[in-house]
Amino acid sequence: MTSHLQIPYTPFGHYSELSPDDQALVLAALNATRLSYAPYSGFRVGAAVSTTGGRILEGANQENASFSLTICAERTVLGIYASLDTDETITAMAIAYTADQVDPKALLSPCGACRQHILEYQNRQEAPFRILMTAPDGSGIEVASIRELLPFAFTGAELPKP
Ligand code: THU
Repeated sequence: MTSHLQIPYTPFGHYSELSPDDQALVLAALNATRLSYAPYSGFRVGAAVSTTGGRILEGANQENASFSLTICAERTVLGIYASLDTDETITAMAIAYTADQVDPKALLSPCGACRQHILEYQNRQEAPFRILMTAPDGSGIEVASIRELLPFAFTGAELPKP
């Protein structure tokens, strides 16, 4: 018998409908696209995370002439967070992008590698955080946890105990 998963998510028509804190987070992700280094794709991605201490951190994709070495915006901002050496935990992440000649309704959803990285940070802090994914027209989708985007995840719980 085949089983089916259901993924809970909340769409929004424009981020201006969100809470003031979430609006600020999406605006920070949009602002972070300025930090993008994307000479190869022209796809400028920004990510922002909020913390329990009220911080908002910003990061953007950093491309490389050896394309596969590119670092996505999500992993950039998670590295910035890790560098804070803080007890503050992440409460939410927002993702946005700008590019020429794209469908303004096309949602930016984190790539598979970033999903795995986001999961690691969520597991480290032992508390889920929301993810707000947006399209250039301001619409988007919210999920309550990276687990919604990464079913049957590899968590490391399977690894032998040292
Ligand atoms: N990119 C991100 O920064 N985040 C994503 O979730 C998807 C892709 C970047 C990587 C590369 O610089 C460009 O977008 C095109 O793939």
